[in-house]
Amino acid sequence: MALSLLAARTMKQFLRCGKHSGLLIVAILVTNQAVSMAATKQHIKKESFGKTPDAQEVDLYTLTNKNGVEARIMTYGGIVLSLKVPDRTGKQGDIVLGYDNLEGYVKNNGPYFGAIIGRYGNRIAKGTFSLNGQQYNLARNNGENHLHGGIKGFDKIVWKGKEVKRVNGVAVSLWYTSTDGEEGYPGNLSVSVVYTLTNTNQLKIEYSATTDKDTVVNLTHHSYFNLAVEGSIVNHQLMINAGRFTPVDEGLIPTGELRSVKGTPMDFTQNTQIGSRIDRQDQQLIFGKGYDHNWVLNRTGKGLSLAARLSDRGSGRVVEVFTTEPGLQFYSGNFLDGSISGKGGHVYQKRYGLCLETQHFPDSPNKPAFPSTVLKRGKKYSSTTIYRFSVK
Ligand code: GLA
Repeated sequence: MALSLLAARTMKQFLRCGKHSGLLIVAILVTNQAVSMAATKQHIKKESFGKTPDAQEVDLYTLTNKNGVEARIMTYGGIVLSLKVPDRTGKQGDIVLGYDNLEGYVKNNGPYFGAIIGRYGNRIAKGTFSLNGQQYNLARNNGENHLHGGIKGFDKIVWKGKEVKRVNGVAVSLWYTSTDGEEGYPGNLSVSVVYTLTNTNQLKIEYSATTDKDTVVNLTHHSYFNLAVEGSIVNHQLMINAGRFTPVDEGLIPTGELRSVKGTPMDFTQNTQIGSRIDRQDQQLIFGKGYDHNWVLNRTGKGLSLAARLSDRGSGRVVEVFTTEPGLQFYSGNFLDGSISGKGGHVYQKRYGLCLETQHFPDSPNKPAFPSTVLKRGKKYSSTTIYRFSVK
């Protein structure tokens, strides 16, 4: 209110000296921006986003914090459809890839834009593992391997959803029960994911799960970030808080080694331009067609710790990732090939977006030396990741 009065007064003053009309327009724009930013109250809106081909209703939740930062999340796949954050001048931009409508997501399930990934984020070799002396065979949906939970993973199901209360932000809780044997996994698994958009510009994701039979779980989130809103991400700067990574074979299955990043193109311990080494004739980069690897995070204690910092000099936007997980998959969007027209007609060429997927290491069920992904009957799985947005 006070700001509106100020805007009106400023306008009158400028009108008195008509020759400054250019300045007048600037003043109105700036003041209006201040008015709209200050007037925003945190809120959440629920609306229908259509129906899946098998007639399931999909809801869309729009979360807005008091700074006007907005996240749109739908119950299909728990997908983050858009994430609008300001650049250094205060201009909002949508920094994640996706489609304009539900149909886009249902038809093109390859890239997993913005989705919750489960039961197992990333690959399990040959789609098989043994637990308590029994062998389980999973769907093989990535060559001979199992990827991101199988043919119909958590990214392709309709979650139940409701608004929940969280201190200092707006939140939506999504839940789903995956039945015993789904995609080959043992146990009825009850999963819940709470997305909170805080007033400190964080998107917080809290995952939890319980099972009635011993099983494996590794949940993650698959947003593709482009802090410049459009174009290639190779000019983004990245820091990954990790001294080691898990090298892979040509099927992108970890060999089991934890290798030092020192002297390799995997060294992101300092802020580094993503494109500066991405096309090197390095065996790991050749296997990944760029970056598509898991980093072993330098962790301190059990709680949230800094995993990565992504920034874009042009817009000034920064995303910091904090997690309770031991690993981070940095995927540089190498499989995007221009065949997808996404939101607003953007054509997603190679490396148009990148994922920072917090996780346990790929193929852990077959790698006893890796941190365990086993969830015992009666125990609770919980994991938290925060994407914090700022500018510099
Ligand atoms: C993950 C994988 C990639 C690719 C993408 C989805 O990040 O590691 O190899 O499958 O998902 O396209």
